[in-house]
Amino acid sequence: MNTVKWTFRSVLPLLAVSVLWAACSSPAPGPPPPSIDPVARVDPLEIPFASPVEFPESWRFTAGAEPAAGRRGMVVSTDSLASAAGLEILKAGGNAVDAAIAVQFALAVVHPVAGNIGGGGFMVARLADDTRIALDFREEAPGAASKDMYLDDAGDVTDASWVGHLAAGVPGSVAGMEAAHERYGTLPWDRLLAPAIRLARDGFVVESRHHDDLSWGRESLSRLPATAAVFLPGGKAPPKGSTFRQPDLARTLETISAQGAQGFYDGWVADSIAAEMKRGGGLITKQDLAAYRAVWREPIEIDYRGWTVISMPPPSSGGVTMGQILNIVESSELGSLGWHSPEAIHLAVEGMRRAYADRNFYLGDPDYVEMPIDRLLSQSYADSLAETIDPDHASRSEEFNRVPLESTQTTHFSIIDEAGNAVAVTTTLNGGFGSYVVVRGAGFLLNNEMDDFTSKPGVPNAYGLVQGEANAISPGKRMLSAMTPTVVINPAGRTELITGTPGGSTIITSIFQIVSNHIDFGLPVCTSVDAPRFHHQNLPDVIRYEVGGLDPGTVGTLREMGHELSERDGISGDVESIWIAPDGTRYGAADRRRDGSALGY
Ligand code: DON
Repeated sequence: MNTVKWTFRSVLPLLAVSVLWAACSSPAPGPPPPSIDPVARVDPLEIPFASPVEFPESWRFTAGAEPAAGRRGMVVSTDSLASAAGLEILKAGGNAVDAAIAVQFALAVVHPVAGNIGGGGFMVARLADDTRIALDFREEAPGAASKDMYLDDAGDVTDASWVGHLAAGVPGSVAGMEAAHERYGTLPWDRLLAPAIRLARDGFVVESRHHDDLSWGRESLSRLPATAAVFLPGGKAPPKGSTFRQPDLARTLETISAQGAQGFYDGWVADSIAAEMKRGGGLITKQDLAAYRAVWREPIEIDYRGWTVISMPPPSSGGVTMGQILNIVESSELGSLGWHSPEAIHLAVEGMRRAYADRNFYLGDPDYVEMPIDRLLSQSYADSLAETIDPDHASRSEEFNRVPLESTQTTHFSIIDEAGNAVAVTTTLNGGFGSYVVVRGAGFLLNNEMDDFTSKPGVPNAYGLVQGEANAISPGKRMLSAMTPTVVINPAGRTELITGTPGGSTIITSIFQIVSNHIDFGLPVCTSVDAPRFHHQNLPDVIRYEVGGLDPGTVGTLREMGHELSERDGISGDVESIWIAPDGTRYGAADRRRDGSALGY
């Protein structure tokens, strides 16, 4: 354990907090944050979230922002209305699983770019009694799907895996929420849907983020009349300050509220999905819908420097691949290299390169492919890969490749309740607004998750992932994901961090950095979330970093080491984290990249 981390956590702010809502508010202007030299550090009691590191001057945020705080519970999501729905459920006596269900449904209403009932996702949780769970509600390929369905006559990949009816996998979110509720919910199901139904039926006041998302998607949304009718009333994105109502979606949610998942996978909603598929040449049938089940899986557990990192197993690659990166860097004293030093970035990138090469070759749906997970996650294998890292020079990706761009069109939320149940959920339609197809009369968007499969081995998908046969399309199979909902337990056995993010192929490396920022560098929760991020996914062989996120000197040194670097457009992820302090205070950090919402009480 390094000194910076120990001293940061060793003293606790005894803040008198009741309800605070804010997401990483900027620190008051004042003296610059202390340097990483422990002697120069200020007393954390006086500035509890002062950062032990500084961000580059070119970076958009300053280090040391203050998180939201709550004594009893905390909900962190990308949208304040969704976070409020979760908080309402916690205050009504629901547990974190109940609140997660309410947030998932609320996001389907207020965050249509990614929140969904027509998509899928993963839930990872550590309950107060130490039960560790992983719930797979990933979409699956329709029964009529086939390996080459996205190849044209010339054998080239078409865009049908991305836009329109053929791009949609059988949705998993409603089954997932019901499965979670059946096992761990405490409040009645209809109580959990009530906030979402209210938001859909009565509408909500459009804020900048809602307007901006819909303006961003306008061109594609306007191509399908049923989609445009819902999201572009009068042909344009609803203006800021207007009230946006979704009566069709309200009716669908009311049916789910009254009938459970059956109200989605059978009955008039299923009829509407099947009819929509027929109209647009899609494949999902009523049989596919009736056959869909959410699956309970064993979470991936990684020991990292005495901490336990719990994350999602396949069909997400998140837990295995992040685990491999952590295991590879564990043999070095990453924490003593200095946060974002060229040496630290080099080590992390070399770990990422090796782990993604394995991901792209080996991983797929565990119900369809054999995977050497134990070996991939063994420390001896990680050590053998670590031995191939030259501390001074970049490796070449071709040496490792056996066969991953991003944005924020997935969404993550983190929740903890008073009892200590900790829940992390990442959910998605894949691309922003998924396939852009709205089920006529039912008012919700269908995913375009089929693009996460390998359409053709060796040809990159939308996230630049060059994947192999293990992730080939097959009827009923679930497409490989990168989603990495994660709970981190400290060496004393206490849940300390709940986290996750969108970002396509960058999800895994972002969450690796959040975990490492916490364990190796002792960064306070907001600083860790606000910090600039970098990414390497083996192919293409380039370190991509956020604009202004690395000092020119660091970039120069990394280039001298043989790395190729490029500044990426846009933002890398939308992390929603909760840090639970030793005195039990819940600190919420919503990513300022998207102005998310942390609500505690
Ligand atoms: O499951 C996956 O890995 C992708 N469908 C996630 C897509 C995503 O994160 C898009 N937006 N940021």
